[in-house]
Amino acid sequence: MTAAAGGTLLVTGIGELVTNDPAHDGGPLGLLTDAAVLVDGDRVAWVGHAAHAPAADRRIDAGGRAGLPGFVDSHAHLVFAGDRAGEFAARMAGVRYDGGGIRTTVAATRAASDDELRGTVGRLRREALRQGSTTIEIKSGYGLSVTDEARSVRVAAEFTDETTFLGAHVVPAEYADRPDGYVDLVTGPMLAAAAPYARWVDVFCERGAFDADQARAVLAAGAAAGLGLRVHANQLGPGPGVAVAVELGAASADHCTHLSDADVAALAGSATVATLLPGAEFSTRSAYPDARRLLDAGATVALATDCNPGSSYTTSMPFCVALAVREMGMTPAEAVWAATAGGARALRRADVGVLRPGARADLLLLDAPSHLHLAYRPGVPLIHQVLHDGVPTCPL
Ligand code: NIG
Ligand code: FE
Repeated sequence: MTAAAGGTLLVTGIGELVTNDPAHDGGPLGLLTDAAVLVDGDRVAWVGHAAHAPAADRRIDAGGRAGLPGFVDSHAHLVFAGDRAGEFAARMAGVRYDGGGIRTTVAATRAASDDELRGTVGRLRREALRQGSTTIEIKSGYGLSVTDEARSVRVAAEFTDETTFLGAHVVPAEYADRPDGYVDLVTGPMLAAAAPYARWVDVFCERGAFDADQARAVLAAGAAAGLGLRVHANQLGPGPGVAVAVELGAASADHCTHLSDADVAALAGSATVATLLPGAEFSTRSAYPDARRLLDAGATVALATDCNPGSSYTTSMPFCVALAVREMGMTPAEAVWAATAGGARALRRADVGVLRPGARADLLLLDAPSHLHLAYRPGVPLIHQVLHDGVPTCPL
């Protein structure tokens, strides 16, 4: 029997619980000690001190382990075929990353069957869940034709509600001499075919991909089709991506590696979340974004994996937390918040990334006494239990 099948489930004996509900301690993590969480179906029904917990049909004793909301991975490119391990090896031998390998993955993805794509997305989704990602955004972007983009978003929608149409990833080879013709395709028939399966539209606004005006056209067309906005911005160098994202009210500007003072101020003065993707800098041996600068300016920061076969082939949010703490100036508390509540903000979701009554019952238990261990013990499989929609997904 599972909680979601009916009845209530009490997770008790939680030594330290991150709720992200400041009502508990006045701080962003909303820490509780000796805590319990009552789950009813797929929702949290009660959060508090274990000694005051209501009765339940079933109990899990966390044995003093730390608990936290499931990770919210707000940026992942899981619909692809092939791998680019050779490209990774070349980078580690000194070759610079310029996004050019995207076209290699496009060729492999176009050649793959729906079931092959489904198999890859399912495998990576399970891998992410085992590492605590209970919410994951999945992008298209390796199809780059009407048919292949529509099926990419359709396959993504089989695995998540947070689907993103990224037809404007790069200009495919067949449009190399008429990029504006490709923008017309993306904003016209491709968007029309993909939009029924998508919640978001995204564009890679970068030298070599799409410029500011092309990005505006893609985002405006997506908004007119009812999609929310996200932007790949300022990843490989300075540029207009962040400014365009803020100007158009995007939910998130992602990467934010090369920012001017004006970009930082624009993010800080807006509701656009700065989503940092340290797996990309790790895997491309590039300088990391400066999270401290963004946080000190007052911007909202999220962490996500950017899982893709080229620039960041990891599904591990704990790995990203550890990198953010070690390399990007974040405290462990800021990084854990950014990987949970921050991701929820980047997806404009109030029901995930937080443990309070009414939220989705997505709860992690760590083989550790505190959230600090996520960065303190890098590379160690600390995820003991993952409750996803109220259902324990690890053997009890
Ligand atoms: O977010 N920047 C654009 N897209 C991906 C990289 C994709 C690839 O190299 O295949 C990213 O890093
Ligand atoms: Fe990306």
